Formats: sequence, structure tokens, C-alpha cells
Amino acid sequence: MSQLEHALGLIAEVPDFPQPGVLFRDLSPLFADAKAFRVVVDALAETIPADTDVLAAVEARGFLLGGGIAAAHDFGLVPVRKPGKLPTVADEVSYDLEYGSATLQLPAGTIRAGQRVAVIDDVLATGGTAAATCELVERAGAEVTVVSVVVDLAALGGRERLAGRSVRTLLSV
Ligand code: PRP
Ligand code: HPA
Repeated sequence: MSQLEHALGLIAEVPDFPQPGVLFRDLSPLFADAKAFRVVVDALAETIPADTDVLAAVEARGFLLGGGIAAAHDFGLVPVRKPGKLPTVADEVSYDLEYGSATLQLPAGTIRAGQRVAVIDDVLATGGTAAATCELVERAGAEVTVVSVVVDLAALGGRERLAGRSVRTLLSV
């Protein structure tokens, strides 16, 4: 088994969270293992085109991956946040989730027109979160180079929702 396969094998499957019928993939055990975390950070970094300027990482677990990749592989990092957290907001987009709905906000003074941006998160489910983040990036006049996530929950249709974009995942379940 490769180091990456071992790392991905640490992802826990939790039934009925956050509500009945949802099988939740929890990356916490992977993040808690130093070697596994590093292997996944490096594998996700390899999916990012070299001419990317900055990472847009989605609250909250996307921050862990985005921060690790940015620090180890020399990218800028933009935290895309849920409402009520940012002192100054450049733009916001609302979207549907697998469970409920949500809004994401882009911090002011971060992404500039013409930049090339990789969107980073832990899980791709319906794709609503990633699509909203792409919209924030593009409304800022920047270009999305790739959407890179660790796990794709294929049955939930995220890839279809992001059709036409470059989507890279380390594991499809
Ligand atoms: C999860 C996950 C992704 C998103 C994927 O975050 O980390 O960001 O849902 O779902 P989608 O593809 O259907 O949009 P969550 O909203 O649970 O937030 P959290 O990381 O703050 O717990
Ligand atoms: N794990 C993490 N985040 C998620 C999931 C999941 O299974 N489904 C939707 N967002």
C-alpha cells in the first residue's frame, strides 16, 4: 500500500452525521497523523498548475489543507469564510448544500483581477461550496486554475455541477 493510500485510509466514515441518512467522511484522523497529513498536502499540491498565484481555501477544513499547501509549496492563501467572520467583505455568494444552505464571503484586499487561483477543500459533495467559491474568484476578475479536493462523494454530483472546470480529487467514493 502506498503512503497516500494509507493516509486516505485514515478517513473515518460516520453514519447519520450531521443528520440521519448522511454518511459523513471525517478527515480528522488523517490530519492528526503527521506523515499522512504531509503526504496528502503534497499530493494535493501536485494537482495545482504551476502558474497558480494563490489558493482560495474554504472554511473550515479547507483552511487546514490550504494552509499546509501554501506554506509548504509557496502559494498565497485566501480564506473564503462563512458570514459574520470577516471585518471587510469584497463579495458574497449563497448556495445550496447537501444539507441546508449557506453563504460564503471573500475577504476584501485579497484576490486581484488577473490572478490565477486554485480552489482547495477537503470534500466535494454536491459541489455547491466549490461552485460558489469559483463564482467569488471569477467575480473578482480572477481565473480558477483547478478545484482540488481530497475526497469526491461521486454520487452527490459535484463533478457534474462543476462541469467544464478542472476538478482534481485524490479519492472518489
Ligand atoms: C463541507 C466540506 C465542504 C462542503 C462540501 O463543509 O468541508 O466545504 O461541505 O459540500 P458541497 O459540495 O455539497 O457544497 P461544511 O459546510 O460542513 O463546513 P465546515 O468545514 O465548516 O464544517
Ligand atoms: N464530509 C465532510 N464534509 C461534507 C460531507 C462529508 O461527508 N458531506 C458534505 N460535506
